[in-house]
Amino acid sequence: MPLCPMRQMLEEARKGGYGVGAYNVNNMEQIQAILAAAKETRSPVIIQASRGALEYTNLVYLKHLMAAAEEDNPLLPIVLHLDHGPNLALCKEAIAIGFTSVMIDGSIDYDKKTPEGKHPARSFEDNIRVTREVVRYAHARGVSVEGELGTLGGIEDDTHADEVLLTDPDEVEEFCKKTGVDALALAIGTSHGAYKFKHEPVLAMDLVSECRKRAPDTNFVMHGSSSVPKELVDEVNKYGGKLPGAMGVPIASIQEAVKRGIQKINVDTDGRLVVTAAIRKVFAEKPGEFDPRKYLGPARDALAKLIASKMRSFGTAGHAGDYKPKTLADMKAFYASRK
Ligand code: G3H
Ligand code: 13P
Ligand code: ZN
Repeated sequence: MPLCPMRQMLEEARKGGYGVGAYNVNNMEQIQAILAAAKETRSPVIIQASRGALEYTNLVYLKHLMAAAEEDNPLLPIVLHLDHGPNLALCKEAIAIGFTSVMIDGSIDYDKKTPEGKHPARSFEDNIRVTREVVRYAHARGVSVEGELGTLGGIEDDTHADEVLLTDPDEVEEFCKKTGVDALALAIGTSHGAYKFKHEPVLAMDLVSECRKRAPDTNFVMHGSSSVPKELVDEVNKYGGKLPGAMGVPIASIQEAVKRGIQKINVDTDGRLVVTAAIRKVFAEKPGEFDPRKYLGPARDALAKLIASKMRSFGTAGHAGDYKPKTLADMKAFYASRK
């Protein structure tokens, strides 16, 4: 099965009333774990890499690890997605190594810095301009594009994104029409990382319903969707970690958001937590162990278990065989026909 365009995968999810998890990867074990979970639950899956992941893996390693994932799983629809692409240049690099989807995070200007050294937020018009540029380049190659309206907290300490700005539903329709994006990240009160809320989770669910009404044919994305389960945080802390007051988005809230119109659910932090807990456990219980396979192996198994459970909760399980992935050439023809 060829790699899948993201637009098609999310449209299938919208029709089927489920959400597809997009899981961040940086190394072989994470990729293997996520694919093992997708295979076990027969789920379509999005594996995504951030700019940091591309730097960490030196791009070429990631390219071949992604190719291995595809070759090893011929029966699964798989999307390879660039997460929080900062500019057209990085989107081009991702497309060149075979990604079938890119995000342009046009809500923040990663190429500029304010006098305090932070990346400034972009104006609505500027966001449209940069997003449209990426859409033009990507669609000419059949590649899907995700944009973002509003800001999320915590992605990088040096952005203004810690000042969370919810998506304005009045802007959604115009943004989608003018840019032609295949998916749109909505800011509904989540943030990246393990410390999303101080007391209890509060999300702007009505905002999702309102955006769904305004743009019925757009695929919506929820970033910052890790649940930061208490048992996992306790496990990390039990073996010497220090994560006081960590809190995430409950699974029930994600399910509610999917019902109201979300199709793509971004998860990174929970994967980091489960891997850390498993490795800490081995280190604490077997201090004499120094074969990396003896701690990376259990970490990989624990991650696969966690992702399989998310695939079931998000409703993705069992949908791998529902459709045949289109090729990028099919998508290129589709985009050309819309002009
Ligand atoms: O959206 C942010 C993801 O958690 C990626 O994080 O930039 O540290 O790779 P990263
Ligand atoms: P979490 O930090 O909640 O896992 O969010 C990840 C994310 O949104 C990646 O784009
Ligand atoms: Zn994100």
